[in-house]
Amino acid sequence: MRMYDVIVKKRDGGELSKEEIEFFVKGYTNGEIPDYQAAALTMAIYFKGMTQEETATLTQAMVDSGETIDLSAIKGHKVDKHSTGGVGDKVTFIVGPLVASVGVPVAKMSGRGLGHTGGTLDKLESVKGLQIEMSKEEFIHNVNEHKLSVAGQTGNLAPADKKLYALRDVTGTVDSLPLIAGSIMSKKLASGADSIVLDVKTGSGAFMKTLEDSEALAREMVNIGNNLGKNTVAVISDMNQPLGFEVGNANEIREAAEILQGKRVEDLRELSLEIASHMTVLAEVFSDYEEAYQALEKNLENGKAFASFRKLIEAQHGDTAMIDDLSLLPQASYDIEVAAEEDGFVSAIDAESIGVAAMYLGAGRATKDDEINHGVGITLQKKIGDEVKAGEALVILHSDEENAQASINKVKEAYNISKEKVESPTLIHKVIK
Ligand code: URA
Repeated sequence: MRMYDVIVKKRDGGELSKEEIEFFVKGYTNGEIPDYQAAALTMAIYFKGMTQEETATLTQAMVDSGETIDLSAIKGHKVDKHSTGGVGDKVTFIVGPLVASVGVPVAKMSGRGLGHTGGTLDKLESVKGLQIEMSKEEFIHNVNEHKLSVAGQTGNLAPADKKLYALRDVTGTVDSLPLIAGSIMSKKLASGADSIVLDVKTGSGAFMKTLEDSEALAREMVNIGNNLGKNTVAVISDMNQPLGFEVGNANEIREAAEILQGKRVEDLRELSLEIASHMTVLAEVFSDYEEAYQALEKNLENGKAFASFRKLIEAQHGDTAMIDDLSLLPQASYDIEVAAEEDGFVSAIDAESIGVAAMYLGAGRATKDDEINHGVGITLQKKIGDEVKAGEALVILHSDEENAQASINKVKEAYNISKEKVESPTLIHKVIK
């Protein structure tokens, strides 16, 4: 088989066979197929698309290019969740304990990555002493014992995707639905769960800005999951403003812990219950969504979900005093108010700009060697639809520098104030099964 023929077939709109896709993925991973031919094929896919079958085959080939995590030593139906990424997204810290509190095992492998704030692991490391590196045996023991563990990704998962994603990034081929869907799902499928709930964000702060594009991506990923034998559900949720009120690291952990103690931060609590409900229905602990939702809501009120969270911290050697008294979590030296300059109603908050403002404070990494400052971050005081008077705080910046002008400017850019009352955005746009 020649790579040239595979490229030309796709360029002319043909459907690639299983053999052709596997030939490409194997050859590219082991270096036999050069970058320029892989780039030509991804560009052809960008223009001509892929059928559902081609996308599933590509995904499976990327899974098979590396190791897969064997979770068979964990008792019960393992359910994973994945978010396409947003600002203030601390849902994993709520959903993990919540799902574990009804006995469903959650074996979560997470990453750090670049971004406005730290990744899941960085946020958790706000708790002093907390370990995310552990042996496979300890990880499995923790899940069997406490139904929940969060660990750093080990093993060489989907190396074909790693190489291809880096190539797409510099050749203008990231924005291809089958390639994005295959990329995300290959990593999820290699992580070994039995079922998957995807939180696909939509809006100004999301990877996909329009509902139409987000829905298309969600459908593509659900099709891949179901085609490859994993029950997959996607929730399309709003990212036209940060989720909850806290953006950073330690402050996000604090907000998550407060929800687990029954606090009502509506968007965050609602989305967490939604995702957790689908996860527990997929795990067959509840027969339907309503039953799951009610039981999980109860566990937010009666302390069971919070107890699961505390157990996670304790089992991973974190300082539980910081969880018992959340004011002991890292905090920045200065609180700086950014005030509204006019009266009106908040009509838009560009989530991405809030994220960048948090990164300027030191909450995220601009390059992979940057250190995270766990104590800095942003607390929103106003969200879309809220009335505001000139001089009233829009956000409070938690900074270790007395002068945080770059962040202040970015926050001012992020907020839009209008004279007319604006409704707060719909949170859950659609569920795709
Ligand atoms: N995230 C991924 O992991 N892959 C893509 O292709 C796009 C976003």
